[in-house]
Amino acid sequence: MFDIFPNYWTPVLPVGELDESPVSVILAGEQIVLFRTQSGEIRALRDRCSHRSVALSLGRVTSNGCLECPYHGWQFNGDGACVHVPFNDVNKINLSRLAVSSFPCQVIAGCVWIFTGESKPPALQVPDSLKLPNTAYYIHQEIWNTHWTRVIEANLDFVHLPFVHRQTFGQVAQSALESGDILNFKIEDSGDRIEVFAPYKNVPPTFALEWHQPNLVVVKFDDMGFPVKREHFFAVPINEHQTQCTIILHMAEGMDIQTQQFAAQEFIKPLLEDRVVIESQLGEIPLLAEECHVTTDKPTLLFRRWYHQTIARQPMLR
Ligand code: FES
Repeated sequence: MFDIFPNYWTPVLPVGELDESPVSVILAGEQIVLFRTQSGEIRALRDRCSHRSVALSLGRVTSNGCLECPYHGWQFNGDGACVHVPFNDVNKINLSRLAVSSFPCQVIAGCVWIFTGESKPPALQVPDSLKLPNTAYYIHQEIWNTHWTRVIEANLDFVHLPFVHRQTFGQVAQSALESGDILNFKIEDSGDRIEVFAPYKNVPPTFALEWHQPNLVVVKFDDMGFPVKREHFFAVPINEHQTQCTIILHMAEGMDIQTQQFAAQEFIKPLLEDRVVIESQLGEIPLLAEECHVTTDKPTLLFRRWYHQTIARQPMLR
């Protein structure tokens, strides 16, 4: 299971979208059903009944907090165990054979996170900016028709700004472009995290892009006076061709809800400029020899190296 993205924690759904009805999500090629048990706990099961493979997400949550299949009414608890088989003597059935797979899940920064494996998961590591108490997070999701690795690369790339975002925030790079500047990146590589500082002279030195393994890029606007302090961009693989982009904005303090929503929506609009370009790329990031590279590609090449050494099946050509 989850072959294209195995054994990672990732956000999948804003928690506000999960009420008393089950919700289906597709993560790394697997259909998962999320539901709340009687006590309000959120649980994640494989969205396939063990009887005739019907989607359990079409069913309902019973008064005892189980998920009931819509076809013949088998009931599954939050661990995936089958606890009820209507019209049959349960004493004559080996119920343990009827279980469905369950997956660890938890709520962080207003999102439900799932671990893409069935073994005991490692502790979920997130940047401190996703763990702030009493902090307003604005969550936005949209599906891009591209491989998730292309989305991460776009978020780690400063050089596209004056071209893709010529009419919007890319203007911060316009003077460097017109002056013919040769860009030198300051990069801090900590193994599971790469921080790339903005190479443009007219922005604060704290403006940076920070990739966290496996699928998060944090854009740090800390000292820029924007209504958004940090953008957390998760590229969550739906399958090999589609990515659920989940963006968690850490908003600046002191705005009422309406101003905050307006500011967040204005901030998200330029994503369309990225999406049009990124969706024109073909497939996952390829091996080194299959595309051309220059010095300013160093941040994305560090990501490529990690991807090809850990997740992709083929070793990277050197
Ligand atoms: Fe689910 Fe029959 S298909 S109970």
